[in-house]
Order: sequence, then C-alpha cells, then structure tokens
Amino acid sequence: MMTDSVDPILRVTDITKPFEFDLSRPLEIEVGCGKGKFLTERAKQNADCDFLGIERMLERVRLFDGKCRRGKIDNAKVLRLEALYTFHYLLPAHHARTVYVFFPDPWPKKKHHSHRLFGPLFLNALWKRLEIGGKLEFATDHKEYFETVCQCFEDDALRGGGAVSAPRFERVEPMPRPKEVWTEFETMFREQGLPIYSAAWRSLAADDAPLAPLTIPPEAEPREGITRRYLV
Ligand SMILES: C[S@@+](CC[C@H](N)C(=O)[O-])C[C@H]1O[C@@H](n2cnc3c(N)ncnc32)[C@H](O)[C@@H]1O
Repeated sequence: MMTDSVDPILRVTDITKPFEFDLSRPLEIEVGCGKGKFLTERAKQNADCDFLGIERMLERVRLFDGKCRRGKIDNAKVLRLEALYTFHYLLPAHHARTVYVFFPDPWPKKKHHSHRLFGPLFLNALWKRLEIGGKLEFATDHKEYFETVCQCFEDDALRGGGAVSAPRFERVEPMPRPKEVWTEFETMFREQGLPIYSAAWRSLAADDAPLAPLTIPPEAEPREGITRRYLV
C-alpha cells in the first residue's frame, strides 16, 4: 500500500546518472504508457513486481500519477523522459522481465519515419535492458508499421545483432489481451472496429558488447520549435 512518502513520479535530477532499482524485484516497463491504464492495473494485480512507465507528455504523466495516488499503488512509477535515451543510458543491464510497447506513434509519413521508436538503436538498447529470456510485447493498429517492426527484428537476426552472428531475439506468441487489459488507445481503436496487430519476442543470450554512445545529426539538435512542443 502506498504511504504519503511514495512519489509515483520518478524525478530526474541528473540525466547522466543511471536509475537505481531494487534488483531483487522483477521489473516491467511500458514505453509510451500514456495515461497509465494498462500499467497501473498490472501493478495492482502484481504486488511482487515493480513497474516503470516512460511517457514524454506531461499531462499523461500527471494522469498516471493520479491513478497511482488514488489507487494507493506503490509499485508503479512514471518517468517523463524520451524512451530511447532512457533505454540507452539509464536502465540497469539485463533486468527487465517484460517491455510493453503498445500503440507507439506510427509516424505514417515517409519523411517522419526517422521519428519511429523501432530501429537498430532501440533494438540494441532493448536487448541490453531485457533479462535473458525477457519479452517485448508489441501491438499496433498500423499494418505498415507492424510489418516494419517485424522486419526490424528479422534484420537484427540476420545481422546477428551486430558483433556476432547469432540471433538475439526469437519470435514468440504475444500475451493474451482481454478487454480488461486494453490500453486507452486499444480501447479506442477496438471501439472503431479497427484491426489490431500484435507480436512478441523473447531475448536470447548473445554477445554482450557495450552500447556505443548515441549521436545525433546537426539537423536534429534541439531547437526552439522542437523543445517547446514537449514543455506544455
Ligand atoms: C499513441 S500513444 C499510445 C499510448 C498508450 N500506449 C496506449 O496504448 O493508450 C503513444 C504514446 O507514446 C508517447 N511517446 C511517443 N514517443 C515517445 C518517446 N520517444 N519517449 C517517451 N514517450 C513517447 C506519446 O507521448 C504517447 O503518449
């Protein structure tokens, strides 16, 4: 049960300092957790596990926070930070039991594809943060993005994840998702009768090379129009 001293928001004072988790407890992470419907429910049902939601929109972080406080949930936290950066630099190695990515922004226009979460960089960081045998659960309403993500994992297997030629992920059956565990977006899409595409992958033991530092091209450097969008 939550006490008054528990803050559901994971406060960041130094974005170069990795977070400390209780490594004796399993951890599940949701990327782009939105208002937290899925993760806070899961936290309620699984008191023996810790949960971390990563969400960059302030209003949604506040709603997640409210759900934890009202439900007296003390094993879920939300972090307002960019997911790739968080995976790359701030999470413990090989600790997450499951990572959920439900209905990530599909960025359908070709000129925006570089904004998509899934790509070789995210797969590198994802593998590094999942425990061996840990799972990624993925769902989307966007067929083309679904196929692109599946292709991303196939390409990773062909590349052997980089250093050695052995696959780092195997495709497995996605978890059952009855109505009770639908996210906000899944509820909305299902009510519209849209098809939903799901897949899951399990991480395998592989060469554990350090992650190379992230670099960004000059045109992607923070600038007025971009930084302002995330401050409201
Ligand atoms: C389409 S919504 C889906 C929300 C929720 N998963 C659901 O199914 O209801 C995608 C969410 O991911 C968040 N998001 C997108 N890219 C992100 C990133 N790189 N880091 C953190 N959050 C991100 C957005 O702010 C948004 O809340």
